[in-house]
Amino acid sequence: MSAVPIGIPSTVPQGAPPVRHYLQFSDFSADEYSYLLQRAAFIKHKFKTFVRHHTLVDRTLAMIFEKASTRTRVSFEAGMYQMGGSVVHLTTGDSQLGRAEPIDDSAKVISRMVDIVMIRTFEQTKIERFAANSRVPVINGLTNEFHPCQILSDIFTFLEHRGANSEGKLDPAFLQGKTVAWVGDGNNMANTWLQAADILGFKVHVSTPGGYEVDQSVAGIRASHSYQVFADPMQACAGADLVTTDVWTSMGFEAENEARKAAFADWCVDAAMMRAAKPDALFMHCLPAHRGEEVQAEVIDGPQSVVWDEAENRMHVQKALMEYLLLGRIG
Ligand code: CP
Ligand code: NVA
Repeated sequence: MSAVPIGIPSTVPQGAPPVRHYLQFSDFSADEYSYLLQRAAFIKHKFKTFVRHHTLVDRTLAMIFEKASTRTRVSFEAGMYQMGGSVVHLTTGDSQLGRAEPIDDSAKVISRMVDIVMIRTFEQTKIERFAANSRVPVINGLTNEFHPCQILSDIFTFLEHRGANSEGKLDPAFLQGKTVAWVGDGNNMANTWLQAADILGFKVHVSTPGGYEVDQSVAGIRASHSYQVFADPMQACAGADLVTTDVWTSMGFEAENEARKAAFADWCVDAAMMRAAKPDALFMHCLPAHRGEEVQAEVIDGPQSVVWDEAENRMHVQKALMEYLLLGRIG
């Protein structure tokens, strides 16, 4: 019987290239997004036509949630099973993470047992720390600062509705010169839109109440030419190709809820804002939504809204993302 090597984890073959993580949108290049978006379209088509796509057989995803979730949990869990893999679900309350086990130790242990990790947590520094101690790829499933999987889905959804080229393929080049209007909080979603605009060559019109502005240093963007700030949300929406918003109070900021309700009253996306945008403008919201607060029902439930496609597409883009982080470019 041949000797079994000791101390060599099955997930890290000797001589393997460095592990890639997806902690923020700027972790990938425009060329990588071009591949990922095409691949996600291919994977989605297979799902819709009931063709098996088992590229991650025997792979295990650990999902760590320190905040609530519906879409992120279902899309990652269903997606991993659909690719032939399996999932471990952890929360702060039901793991040692909630009893102050150091993040470095948690990362070292969990990443010896699974092939890929998705984390939803508070500070970006926590996920960075986990990744620095992980032997396997780590994906950001939302932090206070960023939500890259959501913006990947939003861009896929925009292209699906507006950006197919003459061969019917999603064409990221179509984004160049387009305008996204961000109405609301300068939060994790806004920061990630700024990163996406910087990389993919479109522009973001940002309108937030005073005191809730985006911060270029937090957003981590190289230059300010990809966004423009407007005091008036109507002006931000003028001529936009996409109008998008998010809750006034993000998870972790609940203590500010009443102050935010007062400050954000004029930052509710309504029919007038949609009329200020281009006639064929789309409306997006990452969900969950509060009708009557950040968006009126007539908009989110109206003909320009693509929020249900946007939610579903989380699963398709994340399948492409997990496959890319584990297997590289295939197909
Ligand atoms: N959009 C989003 O991330 O939804 P969940 O909070 O339900 O995961
Ligand atoms: N900005 C929101 C997004 C929820 C998906 C939050 O962080 O709570």
